[in-house]
Amino acid sequence: MGELVFPVGFMWGTAASAHQTEGGNSNSDWWEWELRQGTPCKEPSGAAIDHYNRYPQDLALLAGLGFNTHRFSVEWARIEPEEGAFDEAQLDHYRSMVDAVRSNGLIPIVTLNHFTLPMWVAAKGGWLGDATPGFFARYVGRVVEAFGNRVDWYNPINEAAAVAFGGYMGAMGFPPGAHGVASWRRAVRGLIAGHRQAREAIKRLRPGAQVGQMHALQEWESNAGGRSVMEYSRRMGEDVYLEGSRDDDYVGVNTYTRTRIEMSRPMGWFARGALSVGPIERFLVSRTVDRQVAAGLVVDPREGIRRTPMGYEYRPQAIAATVRRVAGLFPGKPILVTEHGVATDDDTERVEYIRAGLEALHTLIGEGIPLRAYIHWTGFDNFEWALGYSMKFGLVAVDRETQERKPKPSARFLGQIAQANRLTIG
Ligand code: BGC
Repeated sequence: MGELVFPVGFMWGTAASAHQTEGGNSNSDWWEWELRQGTPCKEPSGAAIDHYNRYPQDLALLAGLGFNTHRFSVEWARIEPEEGAFDEAQLDHYRSMVDAVRSNGLIPIVTLNHFTLPMWVAAKGGWLGDATPGFFARYVGRVVEAFGNRVDWYNPINEAAAVAFGGYMGAMGFPPGAHGVASWRRAVRGLIAGHRQAREAIKRLRPGAQVGQMHALQEWESNAGGRSVMEYSRRMGEDVYLEGSRDDDYVGVNTYTRTRIEMSRPMGWFARGALSVGPIERFLVSRTVDRQVAAGLVVDPREGIRRTPMGYEYRPQAIAATVRRVAGLFPGKPILVTEHGVATDDDTERVEYIRAGLEALHTLIGEGIPLRAYIHWTGFDNFEWALGYSMKFGLVAVDRETQERKPKPSARFLGQIAQANRLTIG
């Protein structure tokens, strides 16, 4: 038996987003998308887990489990339902929520945009619209003003890469359902400008606030044939956003898995950046291995690989690989794990996943990497975007008929680690 002790002041928490938990987010592009015919959504978000009304009990439950931090998002579509019209009652609502986070002894980490846009922004082209970064920064300013000195940690946009790939390249079934490299490029520009302008707006009001991106990163691996494709995909999916972290106060890392790219022969044209070539688009939008194999693009890598219901490789230690890469890119900059988790119906698997992830992360702390937080995705089973309620990422089960919450063993497991600030091993 031994103990892995975490640094004093380490932040332990769970992460959630407004649309996935609150319910009734009817002024947003996702709401409309879920109800529209022909989109890949399994089911609408509806009342979600009614966190909009139940947040006082939910936060008390999380604090009672042993956490000291809470990551959540505020909903632009509620706060600015019409262009330029800010709803003071909604700002009050979120201010009360922040107060509840704090009075439960939790440090608030606030994301200002987690995938969803107000309908009016979507109607102007979403992240393709030239004015969107400015609209976003104006809204961010209003929120930061309303929160005053209650919040020290901000994240303007969650996983810009997922938004760009998902909604503008066509890879993940996100709104607005645009396809192709040209719209992807424009969305990337918009998202990066949005982040930059939002950071400036926050810093103007609260120079001492900590502002960072939260990146969707994976551990990558390839055989010799797949190397150039791997490097190319990583550049498009990660590096274009990572570059923007240079000016941030911290880097948020969200990691779930590893991607292995095995190809029978090298594809040099990937490396040369021939972006308009059809097969590249096909590769990037073909998230499923079946389609990649059918397109003759990859050698089927599934033999013998353990997978999660998301189709991802089960690879809890991937988080250590991504944190290490970020630490190498930005020596000395604080790093927060802002998402790590697994979809599973078998909670013992989640306990195993958390343990393996934390063991791997602890090694990095020993190496002197300034890791400040472990934030698990997610507290409560919730709405997993196009996949609806089928994916169970939560530490706490929710009966959606009765909205009853039931902590799973993994909730107690991680809560106890958080409280003790150490993990017992062996
Ligand atoms: C997103 C979450 C999502 C989670 C699990 C992350 O990419 O930020 O909204 O639910 O992954 O798929």
